[in-house]
Amino acid sequence: MPKPVLEVKNLYKSFGERVILKDINLTIYEGEIFVIIGGSGSGKSSLLKHMIGLWKPTSGKVFVFGKDITELSEIELDQLRLKMGYVFQEGALFDFLTVWENVGFYYLEHTKLPKSEVRKKAIEILKKVNLDESVADLYPSQLSGGMKKRVATARAIAGEGKIIFYDEPTSGLDPITSRNIDGLIVSLRDRLGITSVVVTHDMISALTIADRIGFIHKGELLEVGTPEEILKSENPIVRQFVEKGLYGSKK
Ligand SMILES: Nc1ncnc2c1ncn2[C@@H]1O[C@H](COP(=O)(O)OP(=O)(O)OP(=O)(O)O)[C@@H](O)[C@H]1O
Ligand SMILES: [Mg+2]
Repeated sequence: MPKPVLEVKNLYKSFGERVILKDINLTIYEGEIFVIIGGSGSGKSSLLKHMIGLWKPTSGKVFVFGKDITELSEIELDQLRLKMGYVFQEGALFDFLTVWENVGFYYLEHTKLPKSEVRKKAIEILKKVNLDESVADLYPSQLSGGMKKRVATARAIAGEGKIIFYDEPTSGLDPITSRNIDGLIVSLRDRLGITSVVVTHDMISALTIADRIGFIHKGELLEVGTPEEILKSENPIVRQFVEKGLYGSKK
């Protein structure tokens, strides 16, 4: 039996009267790629923010590596986050650091590796997201949106994270780069057994990389299953989303 690495239990989140996540229950297992799909505003990013302990639920629990992260202090969370990598939807790079310093941040902060070694490592990782040495010394403000996203992805995979969270890693990227990022997520699973949680509304990407998919709609997790199961879903909301995602608006 695979080991659970992340469990969400009876999670609710509301802002005032507005309930944005309703009774979410979910277990993610070691080494799987779990994709969260759903329309804009359905609650995907909010769910991810709870999974990394950035937001506290209104009620319910989130266990990561067996620890209830809703009860941890900021210091304890920081410790745990060394085992997690994450890419925010907005990219969120450190503007005052260069590209290589952003990518190598984990090593600069948490190891005694010489800077020249970290720079080399960072350049190796940048290659994995289709960027080369020529961007290493630029600042985030000098990059395009898609490049920022790839640098943020490089930073997320650079550390020693056992679980990596990606919020829309391929949105705004050209199809070739998008498939490359998909391939990267799969190879991290296959080579290193890394668990990934990927938020996307890219149906093709979801079906290509996912071991399991969770479909979220208006703050509710409507269905969880393998890509085959999701393709065969009888839930009309899921079906419509899948068909639109696969055949576009022509259908
Ligand atoms: N800080 C906040 N305060 C109040 N409501 C919020 C806050 N952040 C998000 N929401 C609400 O929560 C709901 C879900 O938002 P969320 O960002 O999780 O959606 P999403 O599925 O990631 O959408 P998208 O695909 O557009 O990124 C939305 O209705 C949004 O308005
Ligand atoms: Mg979002």
